[in-house]
Amino acid sequence: MPSNSMVVLTGAGISAESGIKTFRDQNGLWEDHKIEDVASPSGFRRSPDLVHAFYNARRAQLQSSKVTPNAAHKALAELESRWKGEFLLVTQNVDNLHERAGSKNLLHMHGELLKVRCTKSDQVFSWTADIKKDTKCSCCNEPGTLRPHIVWFDEIPFALTRIYVALQKCDIFVAVGTSGNVYPAAGFVNFIPAWASTVEINLDESLISHSFREHIFGPASKMVPKFVEKIIKGACPWHS
Ligand code: APR
Repeated sequence: MPSNSMVVLTGAGISAESGIKTFRDQNGLWEDHKIEDVASPSGFRRSPDLVHAFYNARRAQLQSSKVTPNAAHKALAELESRWKGEFLLVTQNVDNLHERAGSKNLLHMHGELLKVRCTKSDQVFSWTADIKKDTKCSCCNEPGTLRPHIVWFDEIPFALTRIYVALQKCDIFVAVGTSGNVYPAAGFVNFIPAWASTVEINLDESLISHSFREHIFGPASKMVPKFVEKIIKGACPWHS
């Protein structure tokens, strides 16, 4: 097993086969909701009820028994446990499927669906229930202070310094199930060393496919386990 440094970036496509809608595929989340209404600070100021309803529905769906980690989440956790070098998993997803599959060194750059944040104290709490406009926070004990702990458009993603440090010294960069529509994640591939290997695993071409040397097309639940199996057997599938 190589002892290089690997960074894996995942997007909504890795959770699609677990039953969680992506954003921009057919009948994706952005087909039914305007981003500016449900995923922006101005939308939350304008209509907190609409935003809470949007995240309450996604939070409830994530906790339904039908939504479980798929083979792609499990394969990445297996890879991390066997990888001899440094391994960082950066996800744009706000679901908890990577954790539930066993991933450890994981950063949620766009936040987490099962957490909320007090807009007064900035404290973050695990949260599985619905939030209403007058739900009280336990820190200030005031109604209307809680918001989803999600990074909205026009907000800065979390852990960027840690991510860029890892990118700048990684030997292998893998992107799974992301369309390359949203920066800074879509630009991460441009921050890795010139000699580093790059692999994109996706159903189709993405907006950033041209930046990757290797492409593995197909459903993540099939292609990621195959990719990981080759690595565990000693192959280097980042060199075709
Ligand atoms: N296997 C592999 N890839 C898949 C699968 C699958 N089963 N299903 C869909 N995909 C791919 C699509 O081809 C597409 O490239 O996943 C990608 C999904 O793209 P988006 O819906 O744009 O999701 P993502 O790239 O994660 O969006 C990035 O945009 O709206 C914001 O904050 C949101 O984190 C999100 C960010």
